[in-house]
Amino acid sequence: MEQVLQQIDQYKKEIDQWVIGSAEDLENYRIRFLGTKGIVKALFGEMKNIPAGEKRSFGQVLNDFKQLAEAKYEDNKGLTDGKDKDTPGMDLTLPGDAFTLGTRHPLSLVRNRIVSIYQRLGFAVAEGPEIEDDWHNFTALNMPENHPARDMQDTFYIQRNPDWVLRTHTSSVQARVLETSPLPVRIICPGRVYRNETVSARANCFFHQVEGLYVDKHVSFADLKQTLYFFVKEMFGEHTRVRFRPSYFPFTEPSAEMDISCTVCGGTGCSLCKHTGWVEILGCGMVHPQLLENLGIDSTQYTGFAFGMGVERIAQLNYRVNDLRLYAQNDLRFLQQFTSST
Ligand code: DAH
Repeated sequence: MEQVLQQIDQYKKEIDQWVIGSAEDLENYRIRFLGTKGIVKALFGEMKNIPAGEKRSFGQVLNDFKQLAEAKYEDNKGLTDGKDKDTPGMDLTLPGDAFTLGTRHPLSLVRNRIVSIYQRLGFAVAEGPEIEDDWHNFTALNMPENHPARDMQDTFYIQRNPDWVLRTHTSSVQARVLETSPLPVRIICPGRVYRNETVSARANCFFHQVEGLYVDKHVSFADLKQTLYFFVKEMFGEHTRVRFRPSYFPFTEPSAEMDISCTVCGGTGCSLCKHTGWVEILGCGMVHPQLLENLGIDSTQYTGFAFGMGVERIAQLNYRVNDLRLYAQNDLRFLQQFTSST
């Protein structure tokens, strides 16, 4: 027993002094100490020669020795194969993996700005489904079947009789909210809409709108104008000029379209405003009494205003993007130009 213990001390010194500088050194070390015919194995074989009373303490010595031999092997493995990144074998001067943050889509940035301006005026956000029934997209909005205004928008039909469509405008949310919510209602509804258009730089088969609706007692056209003036000043700046033109929408009476002075040329005329100095940004009007009645609201007691604007158009005025298709192509070179945290 005494002899074996001395032998083990020798081996410990040998392990200590063994220099491992290459894969070959490491392999030689493994064969000598840890291999199937190696020293650790052989020492365990000595166990049978140890008197019963001393087996326990000898076993302890052997286990310690085994751990020592294995630890040196494990510590040096990384040095030679370079795979173990926790060991000194790792090259800390190598460049790290790039971690790039995403950016918000320009249309999301613009939508968020629009929404936050109206929120400051007390408008709450409401949303509705993109697949819509005939009632909410058309009929309730004073466009019964065969009404010529249905042709103003080329509709994608999902199903006929009963009709299900991809909503052609966010005005459908007006109908959904008025049907269910107690009055007064003051909402804005951002969302995607669809139209069966030939795709070009100026038209896409889907785009985005923000709808506004305010219904209460004594709401007037003056309220509508003040609300929109505030929006324009916040969105495009103090000096932007505004004009209303009479227009027609089935769901409003009277109806108007609102233009702002061109943000690119300031009103002197350029290609964006087709040399008129003005750019149309939204449709609006006083909610048609028939629409209120369709949705169970007494139109002798309540009035309201509504407006709807295209997000792409507002984004175009902000960013001067001249091809609508860019918004939907997911080209990072385009998308990464609009960084902002909001
Ligand atoms: N829904 C109209 C469109 O898609 C926009 C619109 C016009 C909405 C007038 C309104 C409104 O709420 O009052 O062209």
